[in-house]
Amino acid sequence: MNEYLELLKNDHHQFDQGKLEDFLGVEPMEPIALWLKEAIEKNVHEPNAISVSTFGEDGFPISRIVYVKDLMEAGLVFYTNYLSAKGKAIERNPNVHILIFWPELERQISIKGHAEKVPSEMSDAYFESRPWGSKIGAWASHQSETLDSRKELEDRVHEYAEKFPDDVPRPDHWGGYLVRPVEVEFWQGRKSRLHDRIVYRKSESSWEIFRRNP
Ligand SMILES: Cc1cc2nc3c(=O)[nH]c(=O)nc-3n(C[C@H](O)[C@H](O)[C@H](O)COP(=O)(O)O)c2cc1C
Repeated sequence: MNEYLELLKNDHHQFDQGKLEDFLGVEPMEPIALWLKEAIEKNVHEPNAISVSTFGEDGFPISRIVYVKDLMEAGLVFYTNYLSAKGKAIERNPNVHILIFWPELERQISIKGHAEKVPSEMSDAYFESRPWGSKIGAWASHQSETLDSRKELEDRVHEYAEKFPDDVPRPDHWGGYLVRPVEVEFWQGRKSRLHDRIVYRKSESSWEIFRRNP
């Protein structure tokens, strides 16, 4: 066995950055916002990178990282190509799972939710704020489709750069998804793997709150 693989078995790392004793309010979006703010304040790497999982037509779940770009009372917003694999998956089945891990804070948030497109004005406003090159990229990339060569992509970039030398309109197939949580688990690492897990589960008009064993 290679020595570096032996290192994976070392189980002596202790989590001890924090605890979840008194919890965090009657609904989950506020603590999500608080944890994101703390991740940003603590300068963690890529604080707004989240994993989003959807179901493919073949029944396999697929995960990918996206950036969460807005937090609203209703949920979390990310932007993408609506014709991408994830976009098509969401149109077929809006049930998604989001996972966020902030190693420096020893925190994980796990979210089950329903995804829906945000209003077009909201996508317009965010698209408008992006750099010119990213806007051109949104036209040029047929996200998730097979690409025969890098050149094919670069040719399309040139084509759209000539077409839109200044203002770039938002493509209809590019915009935001709002994920409305139905269950959120806040996980805080503790000593001896006795972690805290606090769950918010949506019931008719409020949130049921309970703990899970670590
Ligand atoms: C740090 C990071 C941030 C990313 N942010 C986004 C994003 O905000 N939107 C997006 O569509 N893809 C983003 N991507 C690319 C996705 O992970 C993925 O490759 C792409 O969206 C295609 O996914 P799909 O084919 O499963 O639809 C990001 C990747 C990384 C590693």
